[in-house]
Amino acid sequence: MNEQTLAIIKPDAVKKNLIGKIIQRIEEEGFTITAMKLLHLTKEEAQGFYVVHKERPFYDGLTDFMSSGRIVAMTLERERAISTWRKVMGATDPAKAEPGTIRRLFGFSVERNATHGSDAPDTAAWEIDYFFKE
Ligand code: RTP
Ligand code: MG
Repeated sequence: MNEQTLAIIKPDAVKKNLIGKIIQRIEEEGFTITAMKLLHLTKEEAQGFYVVHKERPFYDGLTDFMSSGRIVAMTLERERAISTWRKVMGATDPAKAEPGTIRRLFGFSVERNATHGSDAPDTAAWEIDYFFKE
């Protein structure tokens, strides 16, 4: 049974012209891209997307960063898409991510870590809706 997850190429990776490399990796890992948008979030839209982290000390910096430039939002489909995409991305902190993962290869810091991936079926459904609600 196929599953869907929400992936984002974050502003740091877009600025470094890594869209093509990251999408190539996504396809090589067996995902089908079923929706895709290039967009520049406002601060308010970034705050809405990361509302689960509202009380965290890094919320303001994170939403400044996520609204600092263009991003690519995508829905990815395959078997176990949510856990597989998180494994391909690697740990949140690029320095702790496994060699060969996207964050290890392309991330710069805990905040500027190149990509986002949903962490569970309910958050995936909510995040896909956030960007792709008809
Ligand atoms: P994401 O949601 O972006 O896929 O990342 P994640 O699940 O691995 O990490 P999460 O705990 O959900 O944090 C969301 C994003 O917030 C930034 N962050 N900054 N400065 C900090 O201590 C800190 N901690 C998290 C990162 O950009 C992280 O991806
Ligand atoms: Mg997360």
